[in-house]
Amino acid sequence: MDIMNHFNLKDKTAIVTGGGNGIGKSSCEILAAYGANVVVSDLKLEDAESTAFEINAKGGKAVAVACNVTKDEDLVNLVNVAKQKFGSIEILVNNAGGGGAGRENPYKISVDDFAWVFKLNVFSAWRLSQLCAPEMEKSGYGSIINITSMSSVNKSPNISAYASSKAALNHMTANLAFDYGAQGIRMNAVGPGATKTRALASVLTPEIENKMLKGTPIKRLGEVEDISGAVLYFAAPISEWVSGQVLFVNGGGVQTLD
Ligand SMILES: NC(=O)c1ccc[n+]([C@@H]2O[C@H](COP(=O)([O-])OP(=O)(O)OC[C@H]3O[C@@H](n4cnc5c(N)ncnc54)[C@H](O)[C@@H]3O)[C@@H](O)[C@H]2O)c1
Repeated sequence: MDIMNHFNLKDKTAIVTGGGNGIGKSSCEILAAYGANVVVSDLKLEDAESTAFEINAKGGKAVAVACNVTKDEDLVNLVNVAKQKFGSIEILVNNAGGGGAGRENPYKISVDDFAWVFKLNVFSAWRLSQLCAPEMEKSGYGSIINITSMSSVNKSPNISAYASSKAALNHMTANLAFDYGAQGIRMNAVGPGATKTRALASVLTPEIENKMLKGTPIKRLGEVEDISGAVLYFAAPISEWVSGQVLFVNGGGVQTLD
């Protein structure tokens, strides 16, 4: 491999879910900065359009697509738009997710809400990977990156649906890496610690932040660029012999919500 091209994503197309804000937006920006065509998808079209606008204004290539990852027809449409617009798909970032936010009291959470969290965090990533894998196989390059969470290994109160869904995503990453490997497709995951986004702001209090920082050797919360840097590593040729891994980006800490 040419050392100067380890991070070169020119002529590669990346789909990012939840690309309108936070970690997804930062991932779109860094992939575009390293040359990828980016399909920015989000539940909120105006947020996806804003990310795509900013990338295009800087000379990158991006298109915005409305996509609710819990709807199969939206996932099918997303892949079709990516193919029509850019001709191939090489990178997929399964970022859209969530659920937990400490609102999952096990005595109160409904069966439907528990199932919905799995649909959002696990099924969407599995299904989009299934739709993209044949395209990656055709193009001869494939890297799928799942955004999981420290919650997948931590124990915190009232977060069992979210935490167990992210743990399932970790294990799915290892298993699908095995299934897709022979086709030249890699699958890895990035597990953020507490990272400053709107999602975190909805649960963060000064008290929780102080507790989190006690267990964090590098004394700050994460920035979105900390996470998207790891996404770039897995997306790029530099990691071409790395698959089935979960990289926790967390300041070296644990960051539980208790
Ligand atoms: N921020 C953290 O501290 C943290 C920690 C661990 C894991 N994560 C994970 O990182 C990922 C991104 O989180 P974030 O903090 O950047 O959130 P965020 O709220 O800042 O951004 C999430 C984006 O996803 C979009 N989205 C939400 N539901 C969607 C759906 N059903 N379909 C498509 N798009 C949807 C939202 O509109 C938004 O633009 C999530 O999977 C989350 O579980 C975040």
